[in-house]
Amino acid sequence: MSDFSVRLIGWQHAHGRHGLPWQDSRDPYRVWLSEIMLQQTQVAAVIPYYTRFLARFPDVAALAAASVEEVMALWSGLGYYARARNLHRAAREVVEKHGGRFPATAAALAGLPGVGRSTAAAIAAFASGERTAILDGNVKRVLCRAFGIAGFPGERAIETRLWALAETLLPARREDMGVYIQAQMDLGAMVCTRARPACERCPLAGECVARVSGRIAELPAPRPRKTLPRRAARMAVVILGQSVLLERRPPAGIWGGLLALPEIPAHIGDIEAWGTRTFGLARVGVRELPAFIHTFTHFTLAIAPWRIDLPAPPRLVAEAAWQWLDFGQIASAALPAPVRRILASEAMRTAD
Ligand code: ADE
Repeated sequence: MSDFSVRLIGWQHAHGRHGLPWQDSRDPYRVWLSEIMLQQTQVAAVIPYYTRFLARFPDVAALAAASVEEVMALWSGLGYYARARNLHRAAREVVEKHGGRFPATAAALAGLPGVGRSTAAAIAAFASGERTAILDGNVKRVLCRAFGIAGFPGERAIETRLWALAETLLPARREDMGVYIQAQMDLGAMVCTRARPACERCPLAGECVARVSGRIAELPAPRPRKTLPRRAARMAVVILGQSVLLERRPPAGIWGGLLALPEIPAHIGDIEAWGTRTFGLARVGVRELPAFIHTFTHFTLAIAPWRIDLPAPPRLVAEAAWQWLDFGQIASAALPAPVRRILASEAMRTAD
């Protein structure tokens, strides 16, 4: 795609965002302030904060002279408050180490608190036309799709490749850098969105690898799932007539406060013997039901349900947290999804 930057710049002039309050200035202080505010916040939310900040702190010296409390108070409502603390620290650093002149090269900017490589490049491009690539989340998505780059873009090797690619795509002229950077940001935010991108409005659509090869939904690749630790539990589905035995879970931990199935302790080998002993009966019916996996946020649980039919009311009920629930009440009871799934299964309908 030899004319990548040309297409983006053309698109930006016709369809990008214009007239935003920070776009009429090349003052690196103002550009920096807007880029920090825009890091995790949408344009519409940033505008009133940007205007108020500039009115109160028209230059970096004013910001550095303020108390951190005042800066935090003005930031309040914008979120991600580490940005405000870093903003204040960076302003003081500019006054102390750069003689109060806001740096305008990407290399010098990237050393300031809260300014990473991509933000530094964006500020330098907007403020002085420096030819350095940006690579934020939006740009990664556009590049992965346009050039068909597989693999999770947050992974080091892919990210290195994307930075190198981004450097090759820069426009030749410094005068075009600001528009080009803004085009990348706007295209990612307005057209090449994560879900349901508007390819019909995209200047790259004709050659976009993801589009041409029908892989828009797969690119960029999502963060690989960590393999979760696996635990196992055998759950007793103890049935007496029309009732099933449930256990009220302790308030903390998984399924806190919900009604779940009692667990068969891990050391038990003979489940039938456990059943007769636990319920004080001479005989119980035991049947293994289909096992399945349930995924929690931090682990997976292999659940092996065992149906235990009591031929007569138990003479013992060993645990205080156990209670009988009529099958008719299951629908309205506070049950975790896997328990509900077991109790709704076919195996519950066939009497033993
Ligand atoms: N996100 C970060 N910087 C931005 C900018 N200059 N315009 C729009 N969104 C942005």
